[in-house]
Amino acid sequence: MTPAIELIGIDKRFGPVHANKDVSLAIGRGSIHGIIGENGAGKSTLMSILFGFYQADKGEIRVRGAPARIRSSSDAIALGIGMVHQHFMLVDPFTVLENVVLGAEGGALIGPALAKARAELTRLAHDYELDVDPDALVGELPVGLQQRVEILKALYKGADTLILDEPTGVLTPDEADHLFRILGTLRDQGKTVILITHKLREIMAITDRVSVMRRGEMVATRETKDTNVEELAELMVGRRVLLRVEKGKAKPGATVLEVKNLTWKDKKGIARVDNVSFSVRAS
Ligand SMILES: Nc1ncnc2c1ncn2[C@@H]1O[C@H](COP(=O)(O)OP(=O)(O)O)[C@@H](O)[C@H]1O
Ligand SMILES: [Mg+2]
Repeated sequence: MTPAIELIGIDKRFGPVHANKDVSLAIGRGSIHGIIGENGAGKSTLMSILFGFYQADKGEIRVRGAPARIRSSSDAIALGIGMVHQHFMLVDPFTVLENVVLGAEGGALIGPALAKARAELTRLAHDYELDVDPDALVGELPVGLQQRVEILKALYKGADTLILDEPTGVLTPDEADHLFRILGTLRDQGKTVILITHKLREIMAITDRVSVMRRGEMVATRETKDTNVEELAELMVGRRVLLRVEKGKAKPGATVLEVKNLTWKDKKGIARVDNVSFSVRAS
């Protein structure tokens, strides 16, 4: 089957920094493809080229087999490529519905268009388990839900390939697990997902295939089921990595800090810290 996306010989420099060196990559349709690498490996640059934020100095992009010129994010969106940004791309005082429609319809947010959009939003939310209240104000939603709005927004614009760049950085572990379920549903419904991360756990948990970048180069692509964290860590850093640190017998000393049931709400009343307990002991 023709891949959803092919990047062929992509090269990009920022002055003296050679951010992408002759990078080639094929993303299978209806798969979750992880791209992993240390900070500065060139992952975001590569995705920014695919989404039209940057132009490659050299190389070719094909979308479903056809050569594509992607000079702006509108070009990318027209080709069915969506990018899930962090919440700061949303407009806080607007509702979920208004945010989803914004940029997709152009012009004023008027009655009939909004009613149609509401029906479409409800359908998308149902099909992809992306439940969120269309009338909630975006600024009052927790980060995990704001991210769902970003996903809905991309789907609403017709994305069949979704790029997520380090999407779990702002999420709690529970929110991250929920995001993974959503990504699984998207894949099962035939969407293609590109997941950028530097977290090995996430790669092993949800990807079908994984590509590793190191210092601007694409160093390997593996079926996730045929690899493991040790191999991936080694490919990321370019030498053997000892992941299991040999621990001496722990003899915990006195408790120096104990926190019980701590909750902290921000000015908007959103619980940013919710019923957290932990203790720190001297070693
Ligand atoms: N707009 C830019 N201008 C100059 N250098 C950049 C720019 N964007 C990225 N870089 C550099 O390119 C390299 C790759 O960065 P990036 O693609 O963000 O890596 P990653 O996403 O894997 O952490 C880094 O050295 C980074 O500092
Ligand atoms: Mg990055």
